[in-house]
Amino acid sequence: MKNVLITGITGQDGSYLAELLLDKGYGVYGLVRRKSELSYGNAEHLKDRVAFIDGDMADLSSLIRAVHISNPDEVYNLAAQSFVAASWSQPVYTAQCDALGVVNILEALRLSKPDARFYQASTSEMFGLVQEIPQRETTPFYPRSPYAAAKLYGHWITKNYRESFGMFACSGILFNHESERRGKEFVTRKISAAAAAIKFGLQDCVELGNLSAKRDWGHSVDYVRAMYLMLQLEKPDDFVIASGETRTVRDFCSMAFKYAGFDLAWEGEGLNEKGIDKLTGKVLVRVNPSFFRPAEVDILLGCPEKAERTLGWRREISFEELVRRMVDNDIKELSLKTV
Ligand code: NAP
Ligand code: GDD
Repeated sequence: MKNVLITGITGQDGSYLAELLLDKGYGVYGLVRRKSELSYGNAEHLKDRVAFIDGDMADLSSLIRAVHISNPDEVYNLAAQSFVAASWSQPVYTAQCDALGVVNILEALRLSKPDARFYQASTSEMFGLVQEIPQRETTPFYPRSPYAAAKLYGHWITKNYRESFGMFACSGILFNHESERRGKEFVTRKISAAAAAIKFGLQDCVELGNLSAKRDWGHSVDYVRAMYLMLQLEKPDDFVIASGETRTVRDFCSMAFKYAGFDLAWEGEGLNEKGIDKLTGKVLVRVNPSFFRPAEVDILLGCPEKAERTLGWRREISFEELVRRMVDNDIKELSLKTV
């Protein structure tokens, strides 16, 4: 039986990846950071099947201990301060976790388990002010947030440990992926949760920032499968994982509200733009500039050709299906609460 250590196991991707690897027969260990109240987040339902280890990406000694306890054949480094907007208010912490955290875990492995295979959760945010469309593995990076700058260090240090020490270290440059387990501050879940709450009369309207930002959105279940495939290769390499389609935040809203039973019409421009329910004339979506970012990533569109060719990876869940699942899930959660 192979052992795996997953950092960020309580997050969206970590929990789906743990399920995938448990199904494949791995002994799964997950790093969990201490909170005032013990909780396993999205991995709560796995607590009888996963061995949790206390630790923090900013604490090298805890990572050395985690490697010692788990004796891993594979390590997936998914832990991060992953909310881009928060990286302007907590830039130093973001760097400690998303940049130095990566060299911490690489050092822990180099010193005591150098033959373990390593996956780093790199991101399409590194393309930032995009230098070409679509973005691929060879596209130059131009980070636009403290989060992206920190992740860029994580990306290059992973490559550097591969080239310097011959470690089997891969980076997945993953474009946005969402799910029913997505945190509620991220725009897709904020919209799906609001569409459901408005349907139940629990909320009047949702306030958003930049409606014109474009993202390449897929489902997390498809994307964690790509992570696993990367670590099964003969030689380590880096891959873009994307759907190859891009949509605006406005498009996501229209579709989410449609699945919740509303037909939205868009009126006005800029700060005055509104999403209006065609049936009742009520305003369901408004712009609130407090959700604008100091620097925006206007468009992300990835080319997954290399992953499809080399890993045999294909996404199975379409954009429409992703939105439908998220809205259905939020409606179901609310109907259980309101019974
Ligand atoms: P997520 O839901 O926010 O999960 C982040 C995980 O990291 C949580 O388990 C969190 O633990 C843990 N964590 C945060 N700070 C930590 C620290 N200092 N020490 C130990 N653990 C810490 O993120 P996700 O969407 O699953 O993304 C997984 C990874 O992929 C992240 O590195 C993210 O930056 C990257 N990524 C995500 C996307 C995407 O679209 N989802 C795209 C590209 C790359 P708590 O539960 O205690 O908060
Ligand atoms: N969060 C949020 N809230 N975003 C909004 C809002 C709002 O009210 N209104 C508009 N947006 C826009 C943001 O400005 C951004 O352009 C887009 O919606 C997506 O924002 P998020 O869902 O917060 O995700 P992200 O693209 O910034 O970052 C996610 O994807 C990255 C990969 O490209 C995160 O998962 C990162 O961890 C990941 O690396």
